[in-house]
Amino acid sequence: MRIKNICCIGAGYVGGPTMAVFASKCPDIKITIVDNNHEKIKLWNSNNLKNLPVYEPGLSKIIKQTRNKNLFFSTEIDNAINESDMIFISVNTPTKTDGKGKGLAADLTFVENCAKNIGEVAKSNKIIVEKSTLPVRTAEKIKEILNSTNKFNVKYEILSNPEFLAEGTAIDDLLYPDRVLIGGDNSDSGKKAIKLLQEIYQRWIPKEKIITTNVWSSELSKLVSNAFLAQRISSINSISALCEKTEANVEEVALAVGMDSRIGSSFLKSSIGFGGSCFKKDILNLVYISRSYGLTEVADYWENVIKINNYQTNRFGNKILQIINSDSEKNEISILGWAFKKDTNDSRESASIYLSEQLLKSGLKVKVYDPKVSKSRIIHDLKTVFQIKKLNNNQIKKYLANISIYKNVYEATYESGIIAISTEWEEFKKLDWSRIYTNMKKPAWIFDGRNLLNNLELKKLGFKTFFIGQA
Ligand code: UDX
Ligand code: ADP
Repeated sequence: MRIKNICCIGAGYVGGPTMAVFASKCPDIKITIVDNNHEKIKLWNSNNLKNLPVYEPGLSKIIKQTRNKNLFFSTEIDNAINESDMIFISVNTPTKTDGKGKGLAADLTFVENCAKNIGEVAKSNKIIVEKSTLPVRTAEKIKEILNSTNKFNVKYEILSNPEFLAEGTAIDDLLYPDRVLIGGDNSDSGKKAIKLLQEIYQRWIPKEKIITTNVWSSELSKLVSNAFLAQRISSINSISALCEKTEANVEEVALAVGMDSRIGSSFLKSSIGFGGSCFKKDILNLVYISRSYGLTEVADYWENVIKINNYQTNRFGNKILQIINSDSEKNEISILGWAFKKDTNDSRESASIYLSEQLLKSGLKVKVYDPKVSKSRIIHDLKTVFQIKKLNNNQIKKYLANISIYKNVYEATYESGIIAISTEWEEFKKLDWSRIYTNMKKPAWIFDGRNLLNNLELKKLGFKTFFIGQA
């Protein structure tokens, strides 16, 4: 047997780029990405590739080559399920906002709905692949749902194949991954399913980079990988606070520490705090699982990674507020960057959201510029965070009246007294900082939450500056 038809449920940041790369490497396989969000599918199908709902360097080129050849975007979920031999579940698994595990556990409603949907309509045997990051033992739950809704006596194999791509570098990460992980059952049919997925990846990835484990190890490895990466950032961020007190420079410390090959230099860039849809969610998940097995010390250990991250963003906001409090003329701040990192239009859990929340709640006016995140997304992010904190509609309205969003960075900084760099967009390095300085209220401050700009040059222009982890 060979896989001829793939269906991917969920056309988001993971499903879209992953299946686009699959399609480009497997021209003989028909791949249909389905989503119940009609507007999103319309955007994936739009003639103007600038309108794709996900921005990733290199993505539109691949979509252009494959779309409507062997890659299709559709809302006809049942048809796509039935046609396929292999179904990837690539839907969102946000942190629960209600019920048992609220604020910690992953909300599996979307995954469970997919399983129900498959169970109700599938008429032939399927291999189900978990792509979404899921808590350990979710495969068991999926199996239960599939079997309880199984009308046509279909046989299912469940594989876990977590995605390790990072946004902004998704296409390269998919083309040249460090490893591909496939978890499956040790039974004959389980091994056959693993082999079929392995054969797909082997078309462009060296065999030795594709590792197989049991399903539970695979599910847990994804959570642990993200937790380790986030832990490194919190570690260096905690040291940045110490650097500011001791006149050590966190960039120098990170360089010296990272050159030890046992430690390595990646993920040691001190910042305003990590964001993104995965790190916080996955650690909370790890904390929840550990706690539910009575491993209190383990749960507390990982929870501190998030506490340090919140502390870092808050600390950055407090530094800004200190300046504001000492200068009554200053009540406008420009935040440059809304995306949670450069080269993406994704702003989930971005530090900018929490920084803005802090500043708006202190009665300040906030001006925002980001090259890729839309105005509606920025407003949506803020509204959501205020709603989660249970602010009433009047309060939300009052705070939102103090935010303005600009398409031009020079307008966004005009007559502000303070600029905060929140995302490390390359274009910020190339701005005409002299022009920006001239048009700002004096003294003009830059708070660089990414240690992105040239501190000395800015000082020469007349700016007062604050860089993370630098006294
Ligand atoms: C992460 C994992 O890297 C990826 O393997 C997994 O599949 C999904 O989660 P992602 O969240 O897309 O990917 O981006 P990543 O590059 O990991 O950055 C996450 C956050 O950490 C960003 O806000 C980034 O700016 C921040 N970061 C990263 C730092 O502050 N310092 C660093 O040294 C690295
Ligand atoms: P990720 O970053 O994990 O890819 P996204 O939120 O970007 O998350 O994408 C997940 C997608 O899954 C969304 O576009 C959402 O509409 C879609 N989705 C969620 N549940 C279902 C479902 N039951 N059927 C089809 N699509 C779904």
